Amino acid sequence: LNAWLRYAPIQNAQAFQARLPTGLVALNTTSGSPVSTAARELTQGLGGIFGVRLAASAEPRGRNAVTVGTVAQFTDANPTVRIHIPELKEDGFHINVEGGSVRILGQNERGALYGAFHYLSLVAQGNVSDFSLTSNPQAPVRWVNQWDNTQDGGTHGSVERGYGGKSVFFWEGRIREDLTRAGQYARLLASIGINAVVVNNVNANATLLHPELMDSLARIANVFRPYGIQLGFSLNFAAPQLYGGLSTFDPLDKSVINFWQNVTDNLYARIPDMAGYLVKASSEGQPGPLTYNRTLADGANLFARTLQKYNGICVFRAFVYDHRNLNQTVDWKADRANAAVQFFNGLDNKFEPNVVVQIKYGPIDFQVREPVSPLFSHLRKTSTAVELQITQEYLGQQAHVVYLAPMWKELLDFDLRVDSKPSRLSDILNGSRFNTSISGYAGVVNVGMNTTWLGSHLAMSNLYAYGKFAWSAASDPKDILTEWIKLTFSDDADVLRVITEISMQSWPAYENYSGNLGIQTLADILLGHYGPNPGSQDGNPWGQWTRADADTIGMDRTVKNGTGNAGQYPSEIASMYENIETTPDNLLLWFHHVPYTQKLKSGKTVIQHFYDAHYNGSAVAQTFPKLWESLKGKIDKERYEHVLYRLVYQAGHSLVWRDSVNNFYLNKSSIPDEKGRVGNY
Ligand code: GCU
Repeated sequence: LNAWLRYAPIQNAQAFQARLPTGLVALNTTSGSPVSTAARELTQGLGGIFGVRLAASAEPRGRNAVTVGTVAQFTDANPTVRIHIPELKEDGFHINVEGGSVRILGQNERGALYGAFHYLSLVAQGNVSDFSLTSNPQAPVRWVNQWDNTQDGGTHGSVERGYGGKSVFFWEGRIREDLTRAGQYARLLASIGINAVVVNNVNANATLLHPELMDSLARIANVFRPYGIQLGFSLNFAAPQLYGGLSTFDPLDKSVINFWQNVTDNLYARIPDMAGYLVKASSEGQPGPLTYNRTLADGANLFARTLQKYNGICVFRAFVYDHRNLNQTVDWKADRANAAVQFFNGLDNKFEPNVVVQIKYGPIDFQVREPVSPLFSHLRKTSTAVELQITQEYLGQQAHVVYLAPMWKELLDFDLRVDSKPSRLSDILNGSRFNTSISGYAGVVNVGMNTTWLGSHLAMSNLYAYGKFAWSAASDPKDILTEWIKLTFSDDADVLRVITEISMQSWPAYENYSGNLGIQTLADILLGHYGPNPGSQDGNPWGQWTRADADTIGMDRTVKNGTGNAGQYPSEIASMYENIETTPDNLLLWFHHVPYTQKLKSGKTVIQHFYDAHYNGSAVAQTFPKLWESLKGKIDKERYEHVLYRLVYQAGHSLVWRDSVNNFYLNKSSIPDEKGRVGNY
């Protein structure tokens, strides 16, 4: 339950005693304030790690004390003490350690709490030397989205694409009486710098607007507040009709506008610090402004305006497409990947300043490999956030280990070359590239009541890494992992080596056995997005296609002959993807339709690459259980067994992936595997 916040004793704790604080000065002791939470964590943390008992003290200048609070609180309490702190941004913090004298000061209370968690993380990793550091978040939006259902016809507390058990928030269409787990979740999130949680599914149910349920939502906000986490809320666009009894939900209709203002007023009366709304509209059958021929901006602004007097944000999702209009058989140029840019075309200067457009990292849907969504290069006057998915919907659903940080790093480092200038995705998201003010990060997390949170111990590195990337895109996936392993398991050299090896190999291995060369994850598209089913990847109404036939495969997304998607990118990138020679192999089939015999840059044919990659990827997964077994006795039995069970399963399932996919393409193409393996096992 405590994940990386175990505060387990470190080796040689005794040796450090002399350098540790013995007193604690909390600059705000009001119960429920983030600073008092920080004080509690420090007591608990230093107690657990070193066995020291911090004596609470009101003495502001205690020599051997850890002082925690905001910069303003510190100067108020110590008017004669001069401190020199580099500039702190909202939620930033400064830590200064000189022996047992530790000062943790935040720009605000939340920053102080982040600083306390950061300090504890360092000492838990054995770092007790003197240091001074300042850390500021790169972006103000560092949210997580839970896809928890509030009403789900019989299956109580379900979570859409949740693989870690029932909702920690909802049960039987109501908010849980006991919100202990919600509080523990908030604690974990605060420790990695997350500042808001949208608690209900983007496919939202309108009934949550019932006054009694709004009251209960406020209970969740109360549980979050001591951790500096704000509550966000998903809306159903048709609520004025479904819930409010109006005849319309047209965003320009006066009665609809009043309806939403009233909802917002009612929510803020109960939750004055609410973060804002998240809206999925006009997508996958959900209602939205397009129903009334209004623009997406009309839709987003409707909510944004109601939030302005409360400083709330309206996060509007760019995941907009109409699956009813997608027909592969008739239209070679139909392409779901084009939808977002088309729908947002011409809207860039139309959004209210408190709208953030939340864009999935790729143009389709959380696949194992996608190019960065071209929409990031089109919205230049609008704040944007990237939507990452910690819950591994298409990536093994936590039954497979897939450490996602290396994938995120590639995406965030990708340079879109807008106007032929450096335009890394991370610089768009931190606001620097286009001077946007409220950009950032959203992560779909979907934890549940399972004591592992996500259903798998090793999957928690993804949540940890998400927080680190949302704080700073300069983070390094391997360093994050090392930190996480030390905090979650131990700093034993073998433990570090084995978990690092498994995790760092896991994404490439999964890509190899589940769908490579940019073909997408070849999972079953109709039933749950799990397990191999390449046949389901064509002819489906969801627009996730491979266009595989007896001789050829791949989506032609070129301008000259295909869906034109390559042309949605800024010119340098567009010409790279337009041309088969300059398209990287790992996105070849995303952008081009080629014969199975097409030669890759490696010299192999597409089909042989498929065969080999599926063998290679599953061979890597076969090594995971053995590697893990070498840790027997070094990891507590419960976690050891839990992880081993899953790794054995993954090794087996990777063979199923390998053989189903390879056999499928052998049957389709009739081209045998050069090495004679496929079909002969
Ligand atoms: C995916 C996912 C859905 C989800 C949708 C979204 O398609 O499978 O469950 O509702 O994304 O992000 O809105």
